[in-house]
Amino acid sequence: MHESRPSPTRWWPWLLVVLAPGLFFLPLREAEAGASDTAEPPHLELTDWPLNTVEKQGRQVYELYCVGCHGDEGRGDGEAATFLDPKPRDFQHGDFKFRSTPSGKLPKVEDLMHTITCGLPGSAMPSFPLVSETERRAVARYVQSLALFGKAKIELKKWIARRKPVEEFMESLPDVKAKLRKKRLDDVAPISVSSPPKVTPELIAKGKELFMQLCYKCHGETGRGDGPSSHTQRDWKDAQVKVRDFTQGIFRAGGRPRDLFLRIRTGLDGTSMGATTYGTDEEIWGVVQYVLSLKDPNAKPARQPAGCSTSEEGR
Ligand code: HEC
Ligand code: HEC
Repeated sequence: MHESRPSPTRWWPWLLVVLAPGLFFLPLREAEAGASDTAEPPHLELTDWPLNTVEKQGRQVYELYCVGCHGDEGRGDGEAATFLDPKPRDFQHGDFKFRSTPSGKLPKVEDLMHTITCGLPGSAMPSFPLVSETERRAVARYVQSLALFGKAKIELKKWIARRKPVEEFMESLPDVKAKLRKKRLDDVAPISVSSPPKVTPELIAKGKELFMQLCYKCHGETGRGDGPSSHTQRDWKDAQVKVRDFTQGIFRAGGRPRDLFLRIRTGLDGTSMGATTYGTDEEIWGVVQYVLSLKDPNAKPARQPAGCSTSEEGR
């Protein structure tokens, strides 16, 4: 009667128990089949990347002087990299600290020339004053081309996500490169550096006011790099970054007023120090002069090749 009739709600779970293992293996089999079709997702090799004559010359210079630290493909993973702090730059990642261009853009050849010719004092990045100017320019172009290559890899991922044919992308690489170069470099105007006002105690005092608002939390009032947030500064790879000590008067990318003006207006990409768009140019010049005023008169200047100034001299 009622009780003995098997209720549908009682027996159907058994059906699931019987079928479940099959259901479990089905997607696995599909994944395996898929994997054997396309062993690796399509990706760009550096050897595919088109180089012009100057960049090819730059690659030779790079292989001679830069691979040991910056790595075969410019990923900042050369043999010496393990021991260095800060680490050599990953050029493919494309964040550069020292530029005349707005945040998020690539450095111009002249920016790179400064880095290569003068080095970055306070880091392992050496200066290369004995390498000829032509070779330095060529390697600067090669560094730019590595950064563009990094961007092209991202473009390819987007291309694949849109289900466009990969062959088409590979065939249009020279075009892809030209477009990226235009957007990231050629069409980018450097930040204009206005002519500096006369240095007066008032200008420095005003600069200090703004410094206390915008810079103090990392750099500290006397610029020793001991502000309340100084211990938590990290770069894009989550490595701890030391805040500069201004009392030493050593600036990685030049200590002329115009260099510091650019550091403030462009920010140091890849670190927590963003670009300051706030303030009039006059106010920023005030901050620059306040920073320069913090130098300890007994501090030893960094040893740098002629023409590379780290202090106020040689504006
Ligand atoms: C001994 C190791 C070493 C060698 C050799 C070396 N670099 Fe570097 N380089 C570094 C380090 C370390 C940094 C990162 C410094 C920093 O973050 O302040 C760096 C940073 C850079 C940057 C980034 C500047 C910016 O704006 O962010 C450029 C460009 C650069 N190097 C180019 C070169 C070129 C070109 C060569 C070869 C001619 C070269 N480097 C050789 C260690 C090295
Ligand atoms: C959020 C923290 C932070 C703030 C805010 C900040 N900075 Fe920095 N700043 C840093 C860090 C970190 C570095 C070192 C980065 C490195 O060397 O990789 C640095 C480096 C510098 C340098 C050295 C550049 C060189 O060539 O070596 C200057 C100059 C500088 N800051 C000026 C300023 C000024 C002026 C302000 C305010 C307008 C400011 N910073 C605001 C974190 C900050």
